[in-house]
Amino acid sequence: MRKKIVAGNWKMNLDKNQALALTNDLVDTLGDLPEHQRVMVCPPSIHLSSVVEVASGSKGLEVGGQNMHQAGSGAYTGEISGAMLKSYGVNSVLLGHSERRAYFHEDNSLLREKVDAALAMGIEVIYCFGEILEERENETHFDVVSSQLKEALFHLEASQWNGVVLAYEPVWAIGTGRTASPEQAQEMHAHIRSVLTDTYGTECADGVSILYGGSVKPDNAKEIFSQPDVDGGLIGGASLKTEDFMAIVAAMS
Ligand code: PGA
Repeated sequence: MRKKIVAGNWKMNLDKNQALALTNDLVDTLGDLPEHQRVMVCPPSIHLSSVVEVASGSKGLEVGGQNMHQAGSGAYTGEISGAMLKSYGVNSVLLGHSERRAYFHEDNSLLREKVDAALAMGIEVIYCFGEILEERENETHFDVVSSQLKEALFHLEASQWNGVVLAYEPVWAIGTGRTASPEQAQEMHAHIRSVLTDTYGTECADGVSILYGGSVKPDNAKEIFSQPDVDGGLIGGASLKTEDFMAIVAAMS
């Protein structure tokens, strides 16, 4: 059965002391999680080592990276590799976040390489994708999302989907306070699952967790997460405060 997941994307926020204080708070607050739930934080890479160390004091808190390079090693100043993540006990990574696509020119074909590199290292991929406002307004959003999936992921074998989580994040909802309605989220998540079913069959598609991201807050999380094809959320701004993040964790059922 697919799991419910709440993952916090800290982006480029929090200095060392703030990152450790937040992690300590989360470890203190997060009780035992039911078998079907997961909770993760994705700090900036410079904090990964110390956040992993503090998070090891909790049974449930997982730690993921925000990005990795597609090459195993080499002359790529400023980058980090999957092997480096692994060596710090980091077993998941966000790939394809809209900020990486928009500001660092990551496209589906590059992301395909990154996906392969991560999975080859045994690192779970949380693949982020979603349409921009103009695409929703001109009603190409379903096609855009289908292409983002097909071009970066549909070369995978069905068995490799065990290592993939999807995070649908409409770009117009990220950091804007303008969240998708629960109906809009469900409509797109059902579309995503049907595209998966067409290529990989029902069993595979039903096993993939599809998270929603974009202005998820304590007061809207429950309604969004209760949609049948929404399996939790990727949380930006509201993951930086223990109280807000824990309220969103509590909205998973
Ligand atoms: P937000 O960010 O919750 O601040 O909208 C979500 C994300 O970018 O993953």
